[in-house]
Amino acid sequence: MWNIEQFNQAAAATVEHLAAYVDESQRGVPPVLRNRPPKELAVRLDLARWIRDGGMTQDTYREFLATYLDEGTRLHHPAYLAHQTAAPDFPAALADFVHGATNNPMAIYEMGASAATVEFEVLRWMLEKAGFGLGGGGVLTHGGSLANLTAMLAARAAIAPDAWTEGVPADLALLAPPSAHYSVTRAAAILGLGERAIFPLPADSLGRIDVTRLPDALAAVRQAGRRPMALVASACSTGTGLYDDLRAVGEFCAEHGIWYHVDGAHGASALLSEDHRHLLDGLDLADSMIWDAHKMLRTSSLAAAVLVRREADLDHAFQQDASYIFYGDQGFDLIGRTVECSKAELGLKIFMNLAWRGERGLGDHVAARYATAHRFWELAAQRPGFTCPYEPESNIVCFTYGTGDQAEIRQRLLADGTFHLTSTEVDGTRHLRVTVMAPATDDKTLENLLDTVAEVAG
Ligand SMILES: Cc1ncc(COP(=O)(O)O)c(C=O)c1O
Repeated sequence: MWNIEQFNQAAAATVEHLAAYVDESQRGVPPVLRNRPPKELAVRLDLARWIRDGGMTQDTYREFLATYLDEGTRLHHPAYLAHQTAAPDFPAALADFVHGATNNPMAIYEMGASAATVEFEVLRWMLEKAGFGLGGGGVLTHGGSLANLTAMLAARAAIAPDAWTEGVPADLALLAPPSAHYSVTRAAAILGLGERAIFPLPADSLGRIDVTRLPDALAAVRQAGRRPMALVASACSTGTGLYDDLRAVGEFCAEHGIWYHVDGAHGASALLSEDHRHLLDGLDLADSMIWDAHKMLRTSSLAAAVLVRREADLDHAFQQDASYIFYGDQGFDLIGRTVECSKAELGLKIFMNLAWRGERGLGDHVAARYATAHRFWELAAQRPGFTCPYEPESNIVCFTYGTGDQAEIRQRLLADGTFHLTSTEVDGTRHLRVTVMAPATDDKTLENLLDTVAEVAG
């Protein structure tokens, strides 16, 4: 049984440490990351002894937590400009804590009525935002990769309903731009289509689908004796943060009867910003889409939605026999539409941010991060040596400094923990890549980043 007094004390200590951690992170006091090698870190955290002997107490827990937090990566830090993971807002963090204590894995309704009902309502809200209307359906998954896989399963079930029992027909094709997230093409291999079934869509030099060449792409698929299972567009693409022309692509798919999937893992949250909603114009034409909350809706990893325009499409994605779970009236059970069996209380984190900040507050968060990225692009354009290949549409910006090795510049920044950036290829050339996630990143940070890049590039 829990010792309630011990829990109260440890929980209070946790809140105290986390509050200090986020506070100093937001103020940019310590390095954004330390990146100590695991062997050294395991010693510093005394992991082997804790695992072997146990016996943690209130005091030693405090010590452990302080070191653990200090050695991690600070996503609330202004210099955190790397991967597309949210600097979580505290209402969502509270939801994680509640889940950790209650553990209602509610893919079966009886395992957590509150959690399941919250998920239903969050999904209803997301469906409405996506323009999928009353006929739509959805489910929350542990991440965008699983959400993409689930959508591809639904697409497969639509074109090849017998695939679940008979295996996958050899003539299916998946059409996606080379810039699509790797989880889309990975899904094709997982589904048994084989990578050969992937037909790369023609794209411009920035990786956006070239709509004028879609007829040629479809003709090539048909000439190869294949049937298009789905066509995927990005909103926005991972590397550049640029949006495909969703309406034009959607109209093409509708005209040719092709399942249209929009990967909105990162950029669907722009639906909440009046100034950016236009980027998703045409989303209502999609048969399926995904939307990650742990990117721009400020929840911890992971919480993603897969949404379909016709609810039944999701129910057809899986056909499972398991007499201990699948029987009788399953009206409120989500388990029939997920890869996962047990599932965390994912809806609660999204709900808590919505309940606390409002749809408006979350929309303002998206708009502000997109504006900061745009500001970085403006500032970089004014500096000699910096080149940005495009005007950003989201909170992702790519750039180069000078003509030297860009990956080397990133390594130097990482090594001393001044900035955490990523890098990617744009039109075949490696670029530095900034993703503005933290509300603490301001103009001063951006100027400082430009100074530091020029300095370390020497
Ligand atoms: C466009 C896009 N789709 C899918 C994913 C995969 O999401 P997750 O990391 O939640 O699996 C990402 C992750 O960066 C992404 O950018």
